[in-house]
Amino acid sequence: MNSNDNPGISVKLGSIRLKNPIVMCSGTFSSGIEYNNFYDVSMLGAITTKSFSLKPREGNKPPRLCETSAGLLNSIGLQNEGIDFFIYEHLPFIKRERFNTILSMLGSDVNEFSDLAVKVRNIEENLIAVELNLSCPNIEKGGMSLGLIPEEVENVTATVRKILNIPVIVKLSPNIENLPEITLRAKNGGAEAVSLINTVVGMAIDINTFKPKLGNVTGGLSGPAIKPIALAKIFNLHKEKILPIIGMGGIFSWEDAIEFILAGSSAVGLGTVNFVDLQAGKKILDGIIDFMNNKNILNIGDIIGKVKAG
Ligand SMILES: Cc1cc2nc3c(=O)[nH]c(=O)nc-3n(C[C@H](O)[C@H](O)[C@H](O)COP(=O)(O)O)c2cc1C
Repeated sequence: MNSNDNPGISVKLGSIRLKNPIVMCSGTFSSGIEYNNFYDVSMLGAITTKSFSLKPREGNKPPRLCETSAGLLNSIGLQNEGIDFFIYEHLPFIKRERFNTILSMLGSDVNEFSDLAVKVRNIEENLIAVELNLSCPNIEKGGMSLGLIPEEVENVTATVRKILNIPVIVKLSPNIENLPEITLRAKNGGAEAVSLINTVVGMAIDINTFKPKLGNVTGGLSGPAIKPIALAKIFNLHKEKILPIIGMGGIFSWEDAIEFILAGSSAVGLGTVNFVDLQAGKKILDGIIDFMNNKNILNIGDIIGKVKAG
C-alpha cells in the first residue's frame, strides 16, 4: 500500500498537518532537488531545507567532516548561499514538484531573524512551516548560543511569529539541561512544535599528528551513535506535554522510526542516513506502513508516546 492510500499515516503537530510522519532533517537533504532523482520527494511528509541566513556564510575551516564509530562528526558551521539563493534557485523547482517544505532559518541575533522573516514573508505561501535553528553547536554567534537562553528563545520565536502567517517550529539542542523550560518559552513565543535533537558536541583526534580531526576542533555528532541520547531526550520532553515533537537523531531504519514514535515523536526526522542510503525516506515510510498493517494499527497517532515505561 502506498502512503497516499492510507489516511491513518497522516500526523498533526499543532496546525501543521503532514501526510505521513517522515521529515528530512535540515542540512542533510539540501532542498531535496538532487534526491528527487532517486524517488519522488513529494511523497515525504516534509523536507527541511539547509539552514539559510540573510547573507551567504562561508562556514568553518576544513576538514569539516569525519567519521567516528557509528557516527558522523561535522563542523560545517552553517555554510549556505543566503536566503536569496534559496528563493531564486531552489524555490521554483520546489514549487513545480510540490515538495512539502519547511524552511530552516538561521540568524545570529533577533534582528537578523527579523530581517530574514521579512524576506520569507514574500514566499511563505510555498512553505508549510519555518524551523528556527537555535541549536547548531558549530558557530560562535546564533545557533546554540541563542537556544541556551530562555528569554532569547521566546523573543526570537515571537518576533518571527509576528512577521509570518505560517507555523513556526523551534529546533532544540541536546547539549542543554533545561529543555522543558526552553520548550515552554518556544511555546510562549508562538511555536507549534519543536525538533529534537540537533547534533551532540563531540571531538576526534589524529594520533599521528596529535591534531584534532576537525578544523574547528570540536563538532556535532550525528548518526546511530546518538540514537539512545535522542530517545531519552524525546521521552522525557514528551512527558511534559508542552509541544509536539519532531524526533531525530540516528534514525537509520523503519524500526528506529517506530522507537522514536513510541518515545513521543509525532513525526520523525531522517538526517545522516540520507548520506548512506539515497532512498532512505521512501524505504522507511514503506516500513512504517507495513508495520502498521501487520500490527493492525489504524492510526499512527495512536502509538505516539505509547512506550510502556512504568
Ligand atoms: C552534515 C550535517 C549538516 C547539518 N546541518 C544542519 C543545519 O544546517 N541546520 C540544522 O538545524 N541542523 C543541521 N544538522 C543537524 C541535523 O538536522 C540533525 O538534527 C542531526 O544530524 C541528528 O539527526 P541524524 O543523526 O539523523 O543525522 C546537520 C547535520 C549534519 C550531519
